[in-house]
Amino acid sequence: MAHISDRKSHETTPPLRFITCGSVNDGKSTLIGRLLHDSNMISRDQLAGLEADSRQVGTQGQELDFALLMDGLAAEREQKITIDVAYRFFSTDQRKFIAADTPGHEHYTRNMVTGASTADVAILMIDAGKGILTQTRRHSYIISLLGIRHVVLAINKLDLVDYDRAVYDGIVAAYDEFAKPLDFASITPIPMSALRGDNITGKSGKTPWYNGPTLMAYLETVDVAGGAKDQPFRMPVQWVNQPDQDFRGYAGMIAGGTIRPGDAVKSLPSSKESTVKSITTFNGDLEQAVAGQSVTITLNDAINVSRGDVLCAANDPAPAADQFQAHILWMNEQEMLPGRTYLMKTGATTAQATIAAPKYAIDVNTMEHLAAKTLDLNGIGVCNLNLDRTIAFDPYRENRDMGGFILIDRLSNETVGVGMIDFALRRASNIHMQDLVVDKEARASLKGQKPVMLWFTGLSGSGKSTIANALEQKLLAAGHHTYILDGDNVRHGLNKDLGFTDADRVENIRRVSEVGKLMVDAGMITLVSFISPFRSERRMARQMLENGEFVEIHVDTPLEVAEERDVKGLYKKARKGEIKNFTGIDSPYEPPLEPEIRISTTDRTPEEAAEDLLSFLRGRGYIAN
Ligand code: ADX
Repeated sequence: MAHISDRKSHETTPPLRFITCGSVNDGKSTLIGRLLHDSNMISRDQLAGLEADSRQVGTQGQELDFALLMDGLAAEREQKITIDVAYRFFSTDQRKFIAADTPGHEHYTRNMVTGASTADVAILMIDAGKGILTQTRRHSYIISLLGIRHVVLAINKLDLVDYDRAVYDGIVAAYDEFAKPLDFASITPIPMSALRGDNITGKSGKTPWYNGPTLMAYLETVDVAGGAKDQPFRMPVQWVNQPDQDFRGYAGMIAGGTIRPGDAVKSLPSSKESTVKSITTFNGDLEQAVAGQSVTITLNDAINVSRGDVLCAANDPAPAADQFQAHILWMNEQEMLPGRTYLMKTGATTAQATIAAPKYAIDVNTMEHLAAKTLDLNGIGVCNLNLDRTIAFDPYRENRDMGGFILIDRLSNETVGVGMIDFALRRASNIHMQDLVVDKEARASLKGQKPVMLWFTGLSGSGKSTIANALEQKLLAAGHHTYILDGDNVRHGLNKDLGFTDADRVENIRRVSEVGKLMVDAGMITLVSFISPFRSERRMARQMLENGEFVEIHVDTPLEVAEERDVKGLYKKARKGEIKNFTGIDSPYEPPLEPEIRISTTDRTPEEAAEDLLSFLRGRGYIAN
């Protein structure tokens, strides 16, 4: 890969970030290679290498193949497609640039998102011979969703249509019509041939009818600041800097607006107010700082501001909420599971978020709304999210830093999606928790027991219900108040609407956890007998309760044994393909890693297992001896 170094430094102005997008083979790599070459960013050595490469594997005969210069990945050269995001840094006398080069084909939407989420300008490559393609429409939708406001319509390969103005005008008109609802701040069409160098850095003699800027002139002069300085002040606190008693500073990058010493600020979500005492940086104190700058702010009052809080203009603070509607772009091979809890990271904060089933998914090729139960890899949809805490935010379209977030799987730690907050939902904020005078302890003590949720998990036919039944009889005989929530039974009522897809099982467990929690709150010894195949949802149930209230019991019967017993005859049907998504056959079971209790049903009878559990409950003081 060619190494392009930063030739000049422009300390004061931030670099222009742009992304190039287009379809396979429409000349993106050639374009960037040409930009670098024509702006003298390529060293003599690199040029010699390029000449040699062009002769060997180039596609341009005797001419330089600029695409080769940009091929960051060996694989790309072989497959002749781009498969990842590559960033290139370069500069001219006027400006610094960071170019993100992203792939064109459908399955790599997530790479494009990575490149686009920080870009100010998108260069949309269009092959003049092909016109506007499905890809063009999809990329346009995604870049508008990600908040890119300025588009260059790079109508390329004009040499192949004899620099025909009518072809160019036709594409411009068609694109303007298509892009109206996307609401870009500017669309700048430029006729070009990246290969021949027309209108890249120098005006082309072949397009006398074109009066606009060359691509380089456009990039050097486009104003993308877009009033970020004039927005209300926002700074998510990345860390609290307190080297000694006298200094307490809040460090972070300003996400919007302007701040000066003396300005009134409000810290969210606590809503405490103070005024700015100083704005410090490595190079001393500032009289003013603006969006994009990283600073440390000290305040005149000792209010309690923590990492993850947001300092806001006191007279125009960000809203705070714990429920949102958002656009979500799913980026994981495993589909989004509504009801599962994911980590949501925004600005400096992390919260736990449950995503509801999509209101609709969006066909990015046509922008149509589609009914959807989940989102697959590269799927985009609109969903409600429910957080475990209140966060300060701005809608994404007003402030990308304050309204953008990523979703992380709690067990694998993978980033599984990105999202953009549309607006807060008002529902929860108008419903307050009622304080009840009689509490769980009072209810339970009347029954002479400590409330607990005994969570039986295991394969179908493993013996969960049999053991739970035996235990309940013993508890009842000893005068305890119990209740069994059994999968088969609850699925006849409350969960009648659910089947056995992953998403439905997640919702099945979410509901039964909530019901079980109410029963624990009622002071009961609650026995839950559900396959509950996923670690993530069992962990969710555990986290809904207090320490010691959740006891995970793995009824550990090997698949062969459960299948051999086949009490309900379901395994036979599943093997014949008559039941789909059957746990252990064509649907996964994730055994607990650290259950409180593991019962081997090949060593113990249900009666013995129930006795073991009874001793456990006595030993831990859930019931008296
Ligand atoms: S869970 O996976 O969502 O926790 P749950 O415990 O509610 O499952 O229900 C499991 C019971 O439903 C099984 O014991 C079995 O009787 C029945 N069943 C019917 N179809 C399936 C299936 N595809 N997979 C597992 N169990 C099934």
